[in-house]
Amino acid sequence: MALSGKRILLIISGGIAAYKSLDLIRRLRERGASVRPVMTEGAQQFITPLAVGALAADHVFTDLFSRQDEQDVGHIRLARDCDLVLVAPATADLMAKMANGLADDLASTVLLATDRPVLAAPAMNPKMWAHAATRRNVETLRGDGIRFIGPMAGEMAESKEAGVGRMAEPLEIVAAVEEMLGAATPGPLSGRKAIVTSGPTHEPIDPVRYIANRSSGRQGHAIAAALAKLGAEVTLVSGPVNIPDPSGMTVIHVERAEEMRDAVLGALPADIAVMVAAVADWRVASSADQKIKKHPGESIPTLALTENPDILRTVGHHTMRPKLVVGFAAETQDVESNARAKLERKGADMIVANDVSPATGIMGGTRNSVKIIRHDGIEQWPDLSKDEVASRLATLIADRFRQG
Ligand code: CTP
Repeated sequence: MALSGKRILLIISGGIAAYKSLDLIRRLRERGASVRPVMTEGAQQFITPLAVGALAADHVFTDLFSRQDEQDVGHIRLARDCDLVLVAPATADLMAKMANGLADDLASTVLLATDRPVLAAPAMNPKMWAHAATRRNVETLRGDGIRFIGPMAGEMAESKEAGVGRMAEPLEIVAAVEEMLGAATPGPLSGRKAIVTSGPTHEPIDPVRYIANRSSGRQGHAIAAALAKLGAEVTLVSGPVNIPDPSGMTVIHVERAEEMRDAVLGALPADIAVMVAAVADWRVASSADQKIKKHPGESIPTLALTENPDILRTVGHHTMRPKLVVGFAAETQDVESNARAKLERKGADMIVANDVSPATGIMGGTRNSVKIIRHDGIEQWPDLSKDEVASRLATLIADRFRQG
């Protein structure tokens, strides 16, 4: 059974979606997990500890100040004697407490005391989910390493209102639990190692200035996540970006192209290399150790540039060349012919070409319209979100391995 022997601490907070937690307990136990429930006071307004305890076949913990519970288990042990803490439903109120480190009841105290991975399944009215305060709290929690499943779009249970706020279905939550605990069925890329580069590079001019570009890292990070989702063991080498590290992989942070090359070569051997980073082609030949000052009357400094290593080309011609090498081509004109030339020059098996002219909004944006260029043909994909491009590309890569 997929979750055999896994111990889940299930925190149920007070929302109408709590009725689904009863089914969730059943689904988790069917797969071999043991479920220890904690209920907030709000949760007990919607479902009873009796029903929860009967389905979980365990004591239900509700009170931070219960002398008996403290003696038997204690809230610190409760927080740590498990493989995963699952908060379902996670109300706006409980998430606000979590984001601010409040600990005024058993659920929030356990969440502050735990050193285990935490998965939250939010459920609330769409307006509450969209509220700036909730947005802030979710961002903070993501930054703290809390994982989320949902909320989903759809009609709310308590009103005819539609929007994003519905708790994920029990089976969706179970799948996320399995993924987090590494119990998911092996994906088509399991056992394969992948290296992905993402984001821009920063090439220093002096200690405070650098040369950069508009890459956000969204496409590269999404590809790394999509490959990991199919089971690959991913090393993501990321330039400076403002988006969070995807979970479930090794992330190496670098600044300069030379550091990126070293990190990529250090991660070899691998089966797959997807070079998405917008690596600066040039760096300043000799960057200054001190801030370059302006001196009135003196001539304006000129920057002498020198070429950066071409990481894709190095990997494409390496003695430890991965079986599948994928590059990107950011073009503003003659997309197809330029991309074809890159395929040859860089020793790649596939080039994902996109038109990054400012009018397309692709660079730094959330959508992408790409052509897949291979030695045996070209495919034009429709306008897609960067996540969709990533999952299609990961599937294409998995197909290639399936075909050998
Ligand atoms: N690339 C790389 N190292 C570099 C430059 C580019 O690994 N120093 C990789 C990119 O990650 C991408 C591919 O090469 O996968 C093509 O990048 P692109 O910027 O489109 O091409 P360039 O090689 O820089 O060529 P040009 O600037 O002439 O278009």
